[in-house]
Amino acid sequence: MIITVCVGSSCHIKGSHAFIDYLQKAISAYKMEQKIILKASFCMGHCSEGINIKVDDEHISVNNLDAMKELFTNRLVEEAERETCIPS
Ligand code: FES
Repeated sequence: MIITVCVGSSCHIKGSHAFIDYLQKAISAYKMEQKIILKASFCMGHCSEGINIKVDDEHISVNNLDAMKELFTNRLVEEAERETCIPS
């Protein structure tokens, strides 16, 4: 699984850097380093929709850090665990 966090100016101002900090720690805490790659990207073209991430090819707008934590723990960890190997 590849999680890409937008670090374009709009998402950065809204707090995307906190997503990256959280995800780095969470990926390590859940021992998902072999399952999840964390990346950053410039503007994804969805500036008005919240803080934007991509999970593989799926675009998701996330309102705040609590919502990001919930998405990670309630969905992404489980989905990444189902993947057999890290994408290339
Ligand atoms: S700056 Fe993130 S979608 Fe535009």
